[in-house]
Amino acid sequence: MKFDSFDASDLSASDAYSLLTNLVVPRPIAWVSTRDVHGKSNVAPFSYFNALCSDPPMVSLSIVDRMNEHGESQSKDTLRNIRHGNVFCVNICEEGDLEKVDRSASPLAEDLSEFRQFDIAEGECTTIECPCVSTARARLECRLVEVRRYGREHVCNLVVGDVLTIHVASELVRRDRANRIDGAQLNLLGRAGSGNYYTKGRFIRSQPER
Ligand SMILES: Cc1cc2nc3c(=O)[nH]c(=O)nc-3n(C[C@H](O)[C@H](O)[C@H](O)COP(=O)(O)O)c2cc1C
Repeated sequence: MKFDSFDASDLSASDAYSLLTNLVVPRPIAWVSTRDVHGKSNVAPFSYFNALCSDPPMVSLSIVDRMNEHGESQSKDTLRNIRHGNVFCVNICEEGDLEKVDRSASPLAEDLSEFRQFDIAEGECTTIECPCVSTARARLECRLVEVRRYGREHVCNLVVGDVLTIHVASELVRRDRANRIDGAQLNLLGRAGSGNYYTKGRFIRSQPER
């Protein structure tokens, strides 16, 4: 096979982003809700997201700083809110949420909340002081463990959180097997590439059911 090979030390940040986001696919999407210092709710999608540990349950997000008009690096609202409140909620999004998930990535004026602006149903978490997407059929209520910064000009903040409570709609819980859920019943939404490409998360088996 013939390859084109890209030496990471010669790649621009945007070329590296394009390669990574088209090769690390599909990516799960954390629809992360938080609250700011003034009490305003915020929700935004993050696909550099994954489960990190099961014992105890932990997750990670990577939130890149954005550049302001003076070319200075600035924290996104989600990161600022997580640092302030020490908590965040990962709402599991499904295919039907596609448009709202996508729109909730748009930067808004400071006094506006994505919940109101994009008609996203807002609820309240039960074990942390944090808003949630009340229509999400599953959510992870998380407490911040640490933020580590990586990268050069485009700094990424790796946010690690302990999952304190997992809420799952009862219709997804298998009554025959305690604490097991039927993930195939979720119409999961993932991200592919960048821009507005998404994927459907369909379960397939490596062999017939035994
Ligand atoms: C599907 C999707 C996935 C995204 N994943 C990430 C990500 O992993 N990290 C990141 O920093 N931004 C990501 N973004 C961009 C943020 O959602 C966007 O910058 C948003 O405005 C951040 O909101 P905030 O300022 O309210 O925190 C993603 C956008 C979309 C549409």
